[in-house]
Amino acid sequence: MSKVCLLNKRFFHFSRISRKEMFSQRFSPTTGKMEWVVEDEDYDMRDEIARSAYTDMLHDDERNKKYYQATIQAVKNLKVSRKKVHMLDIGTGTGLLAMMAVQSGADRATACEAFKPIASVASDIVKKNGFGDKISVVGKRSTKLDLEKDVGSPVKANLLVTELWDTELIGEGALPTLRDACNRLLEPGFVSVPAAASVYVQVFGSEALWNMHQLNPKHISENQDLILPTEMEQCRGTASAFDLHVDELSDKEINILSAPVPVLRFDFCNNSASTKSDCINKVSIPDTKDKSDSDKTESCYSVQASVEHSGIAHGVVMWWTLDMDVDGEITLTTAPRWAHPDGDNRQWRDHWMQAVYFLKRPLLIQAGDKVNIQCCHDDYSIWFDVTPQNRIAATVDRPLCTCGAHVTWSRHRFAMLNDRQRSRAFRQALKQLVAEGNSRCLSISDGSLLPLLAAKAGFDKVIAVESSVLYQKFLRKLINLNGLGETIEVLDKEAANLQAKDLSTDQVDVILGEPFFTSALFPWHNLYFWYAASSVAQITRPGVKILPRGATLKALAVDFEDLWKFHAPVNTVEGFDVSLFDKLIEGSKLKNEGINNEKSHGIALEPHHVWEYPCRALTQDSTIMTFDFTRSVPAEKIKTEGDIKILSSGTLHGIVIWMEFHLTDDITVTTGLQKNQEVNGKLQPKLRWVRHTKQGVYFIQSPPRIEDEALINENIPRVRYCVGFEPASGEIDFDFQLCAS
Ligand SMILES: C[S@@+](CC[C@H](N)C(=O)[O-])C[C@H]1O[C@@H](n2cnc3c(N)ncnc32)[C@H](O)[C@@H]1O
Repeated sequence: MSKVCLLNKRFFHFSRISRKEMFSQRFSPTTGKMEWVVEDEDYDMRDEIARSAYTDMLHDDERNKKYYQATIQAVKNLKVSRKKVHMLDIGTGTGLLAMMAVQSGADRATACEAFKPIASVASDIVKKNGFGDKISVVGKRSTKLDLEKDVGSPVKANLLVTELWDTELIGEGALPTLRDACNRLLEPGFVSVPAAASVYVQVFGSEALWNMHQLNPKHISENQDLILPTEMEQCRGTASAFDLHVDELSDKEINILSAPVPVLRFDFCNNSASTKSDCINKVSIPDTKDKSDSDKTESCYSVQASVEHSGIAHGVVMWWTLDMDVDGEITLTTAPRWAHPDGDNRQWRDHWMQAVYFLKRPLLIQAGDKVNIQCCHDDYSIWFDVTPQNRIAATVDRPLCTCGAHVTWSRHRFAMLNDRQRSRAFRQALKQLVAEGNSRCLSISDGSLLPLLAAKAGFDKVIAVESSVLYQKFLRKLINLNGLGETIEVLDKEAANLQAKDLSTDQVDVILGEPFFTSALFPWHNLYFWYAASSVAQITRPGVKILPRGATLKALAVDFEDLWKFHAPVNTVEGFDVSLFDKLIEGSKLKNEGINNEKSHGIALEPHHVWEYPCRALTQDSTIMTFDFTRSVPAEKIKTEGDIKILSSGTLHGIVIWMEFHLTDDITVTTGLQKNQEVNGKLQPKLRWVRHTKQGVYFIQSPPRIEDEALINENIPRVRYCVGFEPASGEIDFDFQLCAS
């Protein structure tokens, strides 16, 4: 089974520890559910560290360099006044920032780290680099740190160097952490690296992004006759920021309508002059240090932005810039490509992206006008709205789903349901079934609109199996609004537990599925449909039809521009040896599940939205396994082996793996590549991936380079695959390796 892997949050620790036992969550394809699994006694969370963003962050040269430069500067300034420098590093990770400070001349450093396994490796790294006598690593959250008791220091720190920022800046709890540090751990007048942070926004219009927020009936039903609850249109959706690589959207897909404006600035030092800042809304963290309780409430600010292009505004894109030093000479920004000072030479990183926030409703704005941008924040999140110039609202309600759809559908699920091509494929396949004389169907998927499409396609009776009570409520509303109460029956059941008595019509002609299950992490986890359909087929009439009738597992070898960094050893950062960190996670990679362990040539198998990570194809897309849903799940393991010819030179970083579901003999929906990438034997440069589904990425250990000359040899290199599907568990294991044929 493949473990849960959520990489879009920087430090998502997806395991729970009880006093004696370690649990982690895994997806079970045979039940379609996440299950808690007790780990071995020696389970040491290395997998979690391997899959967190630490490696990507340590590969972020710009971040590392700018932290170092600003720390050298800050220590130098403190030394001018002949002060002993006591540095505090909150969230030390590998100990990097503390080592930078001591190397720059700090007399001592206290480095605390809340995540125990990382704190322990930090302690070893610090010693290995010869800083053991000057840096004290404490495996504690800063809010529990007691300088006197934990490190025997009677004096507070006068230099704070910390990196607690996420894509939303404050989402990792930086504000309460810093307030507490100002209160208890830092001297008045302390210096902070970074000195300040500014939040910038720009208004955009983008149908592609709006499709991830609101349902568009035009994209779903043929005659655009799907009626949606009116409260859906008014609904603000969920509160969480939507972090994504907006740089990967083309200019056609995102229309930037206003000039960038700074909406909010956090000063982290008492004496931050902020002379360079053009932001009118400033919050001084040291000044708020006595307000720890009251600051949990919201603060709201407003700024005006000039509209540069007319259009329909759908949201704001947000990024931030750190002033690393008090003078704002050294800056570090997460700005998108069009607003980045380094343009195309900007540093690639995944641990920080840009964040998108949707407006209450689309707003038509005209070039030359001004708009108000309202920005509110509490201790952990920020939210926005945009209003015409003459309509300033004092506060903006924090987004909250009031329609029920945003709590059951993720943003990517919205995009999937809004995918016109996909809806068209289902409508055609359903019509074909009706034309063949089928009139009763049973639909198995999570949060699906398929029952409505089936009813509209002409089925007389549709049974929708839905296990989520929340979605059942929403679906019933949709059914009633569309006058389909007589046709669609909603069944509160797990598909695999259905019994003949549950079916009000004793027989169904067709078992339908998208298939889509909320907890599936990889596209092949939706094979749960096969298990569910096999079990239902036993209680319905013989020869019941299944849609989709089967699936194929596809693979494509790629050369990634940047994603390879996730699994590349770090070795040294700015001259500091962090190889003990690489060693820590090395062992976990070989244990990685979903990889054929005994002879694995891979280091990890992870779900990614591949469209956000540019890559080049080295092979054509190839079928590596097929599944026939019209037959029951077999008892024996299915194994396939074969070769995929390399067609292009490059570095073989990984294999992208996805599923295609065959609705009929000639209608297929894909969860990966959108169309054949080979034209006249040549690979096309731009790969088009389905955006609403994550694909699996198998990372090759020590990625080999394939030179042009190798392709004109007789022995053209090939990717050899060996794939096994174990029906008892529903797991698929993979092995891929490069070999000369
Ligand atoms: C983004 S990492 C930075 C690691 C390291 N400072 C670097 O720059 O490479 C943030 C780290 O802070 C830790 N952390 C977050 N809040 C903390 C707190 N209040 N006290 C101690 N550690 C914290 C997290 O566990 C994580 O390891």
